[in-house]
Amino acid sequence: MAKKACIETFGCQMNVHDSERMAGLIEQAGYELTNDIGEADLVLINTCSVREKAEDKLFGRLGELGRGGRGRPLVAVTGCVAQQEGGRLLERSSHVDVVVGTQALRRLPLLVDRADATGESQVDVNPYDDVSFPLGIAVRSDPVKAYVTIIEGCNDFCAFCVVPYTRGHERMRPAGEILAEVGQAAAAGHREVHLLGQIVNHYQDPGDPQHDFAWLLRRVHEVPGVDRIRFASPHPRHVTPEMIAAMRDLPKVCRHLHLPLQSGSTRVLKNMRRRYSRETYLELVRQVREAIPNIALSTDIIVGFPGETDGDFEATMSLVESVGFHSMFSFKYSQRPNTLAAKRMPDTVPESEKTARLMALQARQKTIQERLHAGCVGESVEVLVDSRSRRQRDVEMFSGRTTQNTVVNFPGRPEWLGSMLKVRVERAGPYSLRGQVSGSA
Ligand code: 5AD
Ligand code: SF4
Repeated sequence: MAKKACIETFGCQMNVHDSERMAGLIEQAGYELTNDIGEADLVLINTCSVREKAEDKLFGRLGELGRGGRGRPLVAVTGCVAQQEGGRLLERSSHVDVVVGTQALRRLPLLVDRADATGESQVDVNPYDDVSFPLGIAVRSDPVKAYVTIIEGCNDFCAFCVVPYTRGHERMRPAGEILAEVGQAAAAGHREVHLLGQIVNHYQDPGDPQHDFAWLLRRVHEVPGVDRIRFASPHPRHVTPEMIAAMRDLPKVCRHLHLPLQSGSTRVLKNMRRRYSRETYLELVRQVREAIPNIALSTDIIVGFPGETDGDFEATMSLVESVGFHSMFSFKYSQRPNTLAAKRMPDTVPESEKTARLMALQARQKTIQERLHAGCVGESVEVLVDSRSRRQRDVEMFSGRTTQNTVVNFPGRPEWLGSMLKVRVERAGPYSLRGQVSGSA
């Protein structure tokens, strides 16, 4: 009987995609994938260390695994905490057999095999530079969306961010490889391509510096079978006029732009080493909206960065109000190992103050989303049906996203998954719309 492997994933889309790659590698090594951790011979925990809370999840899971009554499974820790902690994980938990860093993913099967055969723990957190990955191995977990990595690592060193330490320095994938993977995913029926990179819009083909992110968008747009293109995450500083023009000209590029702001105070932005100001950010928003009037903007915000005053926080609140983001991810500042802020900037804002600011920000954002969504009632929107959601009474509910990335729920049928439909919006809440399908788009 084939051995079974279970993968648990924490963190960002990059991690979700690494898990898809790990699934393929481990399947090739003869394991069968399972979602039931109880029957797994091998448990892979793909970890995130972007905030302390994310990191804590790993230790919670390891503790639970230790309580398993039967012979315990082999445990491999991968991802950002693995890279950050390396061999120290073996000291912190006796349940870890394999530690694989973010750049050593392809060595996972070998290391698991060695640990299995010898009973000795295996660690590889070397900073491999090679970002190639064999085509057709990743087991894509979503029938509609396909993640395609275009850049790995980051050289930006924002003061709060652990990523340059966990994912290494920035390495670009050759455009030929990217386009081959997009083509393969589209041929397999994935209609929506998500290009991934820590600073996705910093892309430059290693073979030709003229071939930048705007160029890549245009090439991906030509791939047959691709209906929608999304990307994450861009950096405001690297949004070029060419990129805006490409988004404007290419109908398959979704009308959604995630522009992580982090803070609305120029003083805080400077301390964060973001290299844009409140004013230049607002000017960028103006330019993007002028070129693409129906674009939806979303953002990330950190509250309670070291030294953030009430006045700085008010600057974030007023910027959020004036831009009117369609959605937002907001976080309390969390000090991360190795970062500039951890070395030089004491974590001064008290936890209670961080919580109060986060709640105030989220309340403001909720009102903004309610207002934006209420404006959609009565309209007909186009959605790509991407998932089945919970049944409501006797009705089978499905869910999709508009080009602006708004979630729309509606009664539907399983065969609609993956199709583009028109939905008449009947109701709106702060986090989603609800409607009825009126035809195919
Ligand atoms: N503390 C809190 N939030 C953070 N983020 C990144 N690092 C930290 C940190 N140390 C947030 C940023 C980033 C998002 C992915 O996570 O807002 O854009
Ligand atoms: Fe993703 Fe950053 Fe978390 Fe690593 S630390 S999984 S790159 S969010």
